[in-house]
Amino acid sequence: MEHIEIQRFTAADAEALADFLAGEEWPFHGSGRVDRADVLRRVAEGYYDDEEARTFWILVDGKAAGTLRLFDIGDDTPLFDLRIGAASRGRGVGTHAVQWLASYVFTEFPEAQRIEGTTRRDNAAMRRVFLRCGFAKEGHHRRAWPDAEGVLHDAVAYAILRGDWATGTVTPVEFDDEP
Ligand SMILES: CC(C)(COP(=O)(O)OP(=O)(O)OC[C@H]1O[C@@H](n2cnc3c(N)ncnc32)[C@H](O)[C@@H]1OP(=O)(O)O)[C@@H](O)C(=O)NCCC(=O)NCCS
Repeated sequence: MEHIEIQRFTAADAEALADFLAGEEWPFHGSGRVDRADVLRRVAEGYYDDEEARTFWILVDGKAAGTLRLFDIGDDTPLFDLRIGAASRGRGVGTHAVQWLASYVFTEFPEAQRIEGTTRRDNAAMRRVFLRCGFAKEGHHRRAWPDAEGVLHDAVAYAILRGDWATGTVTPVEFDDEP
């Protein structure tokens, strides 16, 4: 097994982050392409690291394999964005990162009661990661996620509860509750 480390991003990593994010396509993220200059501008604006957000490198054997941006961290429900580079996918890195994230959030932020994430319906790998990490599907939003060509995909939302994380259970969602 490779050695996976999570390391907090600092503004000194701006160029490396811009290279990483602009260096490949992200098929399940909006337009799929990230503009290098946008990343640098966002670093300067605190998008990746300020009171509301923190970003982490996911290092595999010491090399940048992915990024994890945690945001809305003052809220009851922090959100996150996870990106594993194509060369490192399908080897358990995403699962490791989300398990780490749950421990980090619930340990570091006492006010956090849930962690939420949304993905495109056809993102099978991300959906597996959510379930493997104790998240439950809470929402299904029809035709809510436009891709680069303007095609509207369904979006699916998952969350993990603090109590479930602590006890290793998954409280079922009461979907069939129409009065
Ligand atoms: C989605 C993503 C984070 C998953 O991370 P990963 O490291 O590739 O996933 P893992 O290796 O931990 O695999 C998790 C599960 O997904 C499955 N899986 C991996 N790739 C898959 C694929 N292409 N299709 C279907 N299942 C897949 C694995 O078999 C594993 O399932 P298992 O637990 O039943 O064995 C990563 O692929 C990625 O960053 N993709 C591009 C960006 C993205 O889509 N981010 C999420 C946006 S919300």
